[in-house]
Amino acid sequence: MLNVTSLSKTYGNREILDCLSFTINSGEIVGLVGENGAGKSTLLKILATLSKPTKGTLSLHSLPFDKNIKNIRQMIGFVPQEIAIWEEFTVQENMMFFEKLSTVKKTNEELYQICLDMKLDKWKEPVKRLSGGMKRKLNLAISLIHDPEVLLLDEPTVGIDLKSKNEISAFLQKLAKEKGTMILFTSHDMDEIINLCDRIFCIGKDTFYQNRLIEAGNKPQIL
Ligand SMILES: Nc1ncnc2c1ncn2[C@@H]1O[C@H](COP(=O)(O)OP(=O)(O)OP(=O)(O)O)[C@@H](O)[C@H]1O
Ligand SMILES: [Mg+2]
Repeated sequence: MLNVTSLSKTYGNREILDCLSFTINSGEIVGLVGENGAGKSTLLKILATLSKPTKGTLSLHSLPFDKNIKNIRQMIGFVPQEIAIWEEFTVQENMMFFEKLSTVKKTNEELYQICLDMKLDKWKEPVKRLSGGMKRKLNLAISLIHDPEVLLLDEPTVGIDLKSKNEISAFLQKLAKEKGTMILFTSHDMDEIINLCDRIFCIGKDTFYQNRLIEAGNKPQIL
């Protein structure tokens, strides 16, 4: 279980996150929605251990983040909002490069299979020749190399066509169900969030997203 208690984050004297508390259970897919600037990426970066909270505590399987950073990092996969892959390398070379950085070792065939699971079959293609949607799929494939228990996905499907979005949704649902992966997923596509997620968190003061979800028959958790 991922446990977040009374988490706050300020930049200078601007309070971005104000005393958030929530849990995510194994096998759960949780959506995170909110207006631009609400603090979704800030929260994901803190959960990915790339930024420190101003206040509050985080733990994964009862291990506090601050005292177990190395262990925690091995259990977390993060897809940042900005695509972070090597443009000059092929898909295969990118996968092999990131496998070298991973504590979990994978064969070439296993790496290829992760890409196929994403319906990304351009194994020998340089990344610079891939479409934006395919690059996003590769970003997601890279985050899965070390079999993370928690997957943090910051708008992973921006610019992806509907068919690919559905393929990614199906893949994530399988991952959560079969491996018990905890998934926290942000998107501005409310249909995608509603179809994919078991629970939905709303962040920020604007009530637009809350009302939209309530109208669609969902009970969002307000953070
Ligand atoms: N390093 C930083 N220093 C100062 N302010 C920051 C920093 N990073 C983010 N912010 C501010 O924090 C607020 C939240 O930003 P964040 O990127 O978390 O929002 P978001 O919900 O992900 O928005 P979007 O939907 O546009 O991706 C914004 O007002 C942003 O300007
Ligand atoms: Mg963001």
